Amino acid sequence: MTHILAIDQGTTSSRAIIFDAGLRVVATAQEEFPQHYPASGWVEHEPMDLWATVAATARAAIEKAGLGAADIAAIGITNQRETTLLWDRATGQPLHRAIVWQDRRTADLCATLKEAGHEAMVTARTGLLLDPYFSGTKLKWLLDHIPDARARAARGELAFGTVDSWLIWNLTGGRVHATDATNAARTLLYNIAQNRWDPEICALLDVPMALLPEVRDCAADFGVTRADLFGREIPILGVAGDQQAATVGQACFRPGMMKSTYGTGCFALLNTGAEMVPSRNRLLTTIAYRLNGETTYALEGSIFIAGAVVQWLRDGLKVIRSASESQPLAEAADPGQNLILVPAFVGLGAPYWRPDCRGAIFGLTRNSGPAEFARAALESVGYQTRDLLEAMRADWSAPAEGVLRVDGGMAASDWAMQFLADILGAPVDRPQVTETTALGAAYLAGLQAGICPPPAEFSAQWALDRQFVPSMPQADRDARYDRWKRAVAATIAAG
Ligand code: G3P
Repeated sequence: MTHILAIDQGTTSSRAIIFDAGLRVVATAQEEFPQHYPASGWVEHEPMDLWATVAATARAAIEKAGLGAADIAAIGITNQRETTLLWDRATGQPLHRAIVWQDRRTADLCATLKEAGHEAMVTARTGLLLDPYFSGTKLKWLLDHIPDARARAARGELAFGTVDSWLIWNLTGGRVHATDATNAARTLLYNIAQNRWDPEICALLDVPMALLPEVRDCAADFGVTRADLFGREIPILGVAGDQQAATVGQACFRPGMMKSTYGTGCFALLNTGAEMVPSRNRLLTTIAYRLNGETTYALEGSIFIAGAVVQWLRDGLKVIRSASESQPLAEAADPGQNLILVPAFVGLGAPYWRPDCRGAIFGLTRNSGPAEFARAALESVGYQTRDLLEAMRADWSAPAEGVLRVDGGMAASDWAMQFLADILGAPVDRPQVTETTALGAAYLAGLQAGICPPPAEFSAQWALDRQFVPSMPQADRDARYDRWKRAVAATIAAG
């Protein structure tokens, strides 16, 4: 038993990656699944699609690696966070489609709770804000809209979970209803200072606590898989939300280290150690990981549209056929034009938190075409990351290490990463292994299984692929960022 299976259940696809004991990638399998948009600003996933694609890709990856279940020592799970599911404990049947993290249907409810003055209490306990992004108000919506659900929940007949819990439930054949501290920290129901579900917040949202999963460390025993799934029972030994798993995979173990992952969205996390740093600049305080009962905290900046802006170039504007075409197209843009795209397609996340504003483009001329749109799209990711890092610098008095470690699909674009370094005025480090999310989940499982080394030794294995060093003149950087800030202000004002 020398290999680890990492399951990465993301927003648009499920992936399974087999790592060997040295944490090298041996095989991968990936499957996309349908997105459902039942109303404007609503995003749903079919729970059985999530489970079926995970089961299928896990089997496919084991087979591709030329291995059998007997070779897999442990499973690590990482997942899209906040996405909310509710199911029947007796039958395992979901009561509704999963409400995805991007879904804005509870914006009015959040506004009402804010107006009633609840945000300060919720933030002090959960580190989060009253925004529809998080699970709590989505769960309330489900309980409010599914007939009899709240009464059944109170009787203990139903289970709530984020995607990790749903997968653990299905992998173990309904024997384990659990989550890890990082996923719990994204629900709006979990007190991250006391490390327990918060009864007052549950009462505020009218959520019966009988619904909630048990919260475990990130490297812990989450049960064993049903024997019939892979041919033998495999232990699940690591679980973390995808951004926290990437923080682990990037070996950001020291306070002051930070990473930014460019998937559908972009999520920057700064390790703040044992200190739970409250944000004065609308960032989130969250759990980076919990190992051996010890919590390491992080400041997080969450942007909802990063890689999704490239999807929009491909599927919405149809100016590229594949993501890899975005870089050459951006490079061909007229340097004399300065389009600014504010990709608030589902509102704006940190540090603005405007769920109801929508995207805008500024600076159009008669010559603006696909190339200028592509450049503005890629640049918007750099500008948004700078927004997050500015807020982090203002919140974190201890010296941050100044280097940003990047990963995720868009980190592959040299052009986008050079612009990022230029607009940040700070170095950007891309590691050799960019599968950091899956790597983090595999590492957590391997740590628990006793086949991976402790964090300090694992950190030493982190290897640089390329460092992007800022080369843009300061005056240029300031002028461009100033234009971005004005564009965002105008977008928010337009509503
Ligand atoms: O908080 C949402 C996040 O976990 C989703 O990540 O990789 O699907 O953009 P991703």
